[in-house]
Amino acid sequence: MVDPWALTQETRMTTTRPRRLSLLQPTGRLTLGNFLGALRPMAAQQEQADCFYGLADLHALTVTHDPAVLRATVAEQATTLLAVGLDESTLFVQSRVPAHAQLSYLLECVATTGELGRMIQFKEKGRAGESTRASLLTYLVLMAADILLYRPEQVPVGDDQRQHLELTRDLAMRFNAAYGPVFLAPEATVPAVGARVMDLAEPTRKMSKTGSRDAGAVLLLDPPDVVRRKVARAVTDSDVGPDAVRRDRDAKPGVTNLVDLLEACGGSADGLTTYGALKRAVTDAVVAELEPVQRRYAELAREPEHVAAVFARGAERARAVTAPVLAAATAAIGL
Ligand code: TRP
Repeated sequence: MVDPWALTQETRMTTTRPRRLSLLQPTGRLTLGNFLGALRPMAAQQEQADCFYGLADLHALTVTHDPAVLRATVAEQATTLLAVGLDESTLFVQSRVPAHAQLSYLLECVATTGELGRMIQFKEKGRAGESTRASLLTYLVLMAADILLYRPEQVPVGDDQRQHLELTRDLAMRFNAAYGPVFLAPEATVPAVGARVMDLAEPTRKMSKTGSRDAGAVLLLDPPDVVRRKVARAVTDSDVGPDAVRRDRDAKPGVTNLVDLLEACGGSADGLTTYGALKRAVTDAVVAELEPVQRRYAELAREPEHVAAVFARGAERARAVTAPVLAAATAAIGL
């Protein structure tokens, strides 16, 4: 029987970099918050790890969806991952690596309906009742498969995914205990080191992926005039004192968010005294930060074959890397 810990040692000796894996769910549109909080740091840290980044299209099927919208969202996000400069990473679409769905089924045979039903996200999204898709219940088993297939040392995820990583560890250890040591329980999660951007209209809520009608979220692909309009409408407060422009997370969440945003985009609020001046500075900084990404996006959108080729190559490497893990799990469970 193969000792999984010995396997990690071996991996560490043959490759100098740790392996990092994360998937992005292609629902809604990517925002400035996704860019500053996740995509930009992911691109900046590519050399530190052997990175696998995927688009979790199977996960997008767990709630009501429109096939054409899903296809367009996957294409847009694939192009965006390249536009932000993730070309040193292995990029793939989850459904093009069948091992994800295959391992997920095997893990469903060690997971219990009780533990899945207790997951916070299921309880929240599943409130709709009878029409809840069965895949929403098993979604986290698929996420565990996503992770365990790659034996990553690092799984960068947001705080809301912590419970899911614990489930992943539980399933890995339970499988190993029952059928032999196939999986490495992912130990550490690298917290997202990027800026935490809040919603412009509701500054106590995180700016997250959204439908395009959401006024409080700047989209990564919003043109400058739309950025200007959204920032102009951002919530501030009625303070008109000489030091109105300052950080105070509790008393002035909207202003604090704008100051954070300005700094995350390379600017500074020093010397600014009015909200009008702050908003103009934020708009200029955000537009300047997004400009190169949008320019690259427009170029890539004109060569979809190039984007498709990068993702085809990535899926091929992902299939090669995951095949031995799926084979070991399949054999261990008795198939
Ligand atoms: N569930 C994650 C989210 O909602 C996306 C995801 C799916 C993921 N599979 C993953 C993240 C594997 C990290 C690793 O954001």
